[in-house]
Amino acid sequence: MRLAGKVAVVTGATSGIGRAIATVFAREGAMIVASGRSMERGNAVVEEIRKAGGAASFVRADLANPEDVQALIEAASRIYGKLNILVNDGGYFSLSNYQPVVDTPVDEWDKTLAVNLRAAFVACKHAIPPMIAQGGGSIVNVSSIGGLIAFPRFAAYVASKGGLQQLTKSIALDYGRHNIRANLVCPGAIETPGNDPFIEAFYASREEYVRANSSMTPLGRMGRPEDIAYAALYLASDESAYVTGACIVVDGGRIIGG
Ligand SMILES: NC(=O)c1ccc[n+]([C@@H]2O[C@H](COP(=O)([O-])OP(=O)(O)OC[C@H]3O[C@@H](n4cnc5c(N)ncnc54)[C@H](OP(=O)(O)O)[C@@H]3O)[C@@H](O)[C@H]2O)c1
Repeated sequence: MRLAGKVAVVTGATSGIGRAIATVFAREGAMIVASGRSMERGNAVVEEIRKAGGAASFVRADLANPEDVQALIEAASRIYGKLNILVNDGGYFSLSNYQPVVDTPVDEWDKTLAVNLRAAFVACKHAIPPMIAQGGGSIVNVSSIGGLIAFPRFAAYVASKGGLQQLTKSIALDYGRHNIRANLVCPGAIETPGNDPFIEAFYASREEYVRANSSMTPLGRMGRPEDIAYAALYLASDESAYVTGACIVVDGGRIIGG
């Protein structure tokens, strides 16, 4: 097993990509601290992992609240005695922050930056000292191709994901000597529940949405949460021991054509 004996905190584990990451990591032997706001979905993920023979606990945290984020990180050492891997996956994107700059309410800007960027900063701030004390650790931040290029009408979101790129590189630079690695996965269009409001608002049907996204993608299909989970698995594991400050784009080739 590729993560045998490691303890991983996974934010956004109650849905979509984060849920797949928690499940795949548990299958590879990691003990999982799964987080999100929904107790119901969080407990369901934990139950699924335990039924499959894995170890997991749910810790509720609102990423907009720095105290919750600190408590989440501290929970890993309290529950499992250590912290080896931190995955910052939880993210906020909705019709409310799907706006160009002039139309973006200041509170939507603040919420987007708080959940998508500040929470990752706070999580890393509290995770790095125990990781240093135990000889190292791996941080995997889930950004987006929207952190590399921009999407129209998504000012706060692309700013938050671009910021996450730089935060990750900064950590890689500052803590590499302590054997802390920090890397990014940049997903393209992935089929998750988070996109449902966009499908309802802008497409006649789910099939049309899938067809439209697939036709813009060289590999001819949308991504699955597991596609991202396997990239995160590589970055979390010792197989990527010499990789830091890097970004793995997992988008079916969507951005290579510009
Ligand atoms: N799907 C895509 O096409 C795509 C593409 C590029 C990047 N991404 C990124 O991938 C990550 C996961 O997205 P997804 O597509 O899997 O979406 P999703 O299915 O909607 O899942 C989002 C996750 O984030 C958590 N979350 C949101 N706001 C939170 C808050 N304030 N506090 C705590 N947790 C919060 C949710 O948990 P609760 O609901 O339980 O709070 C949920 O677990 C995000 O960072 C997103 O930006 C997705």
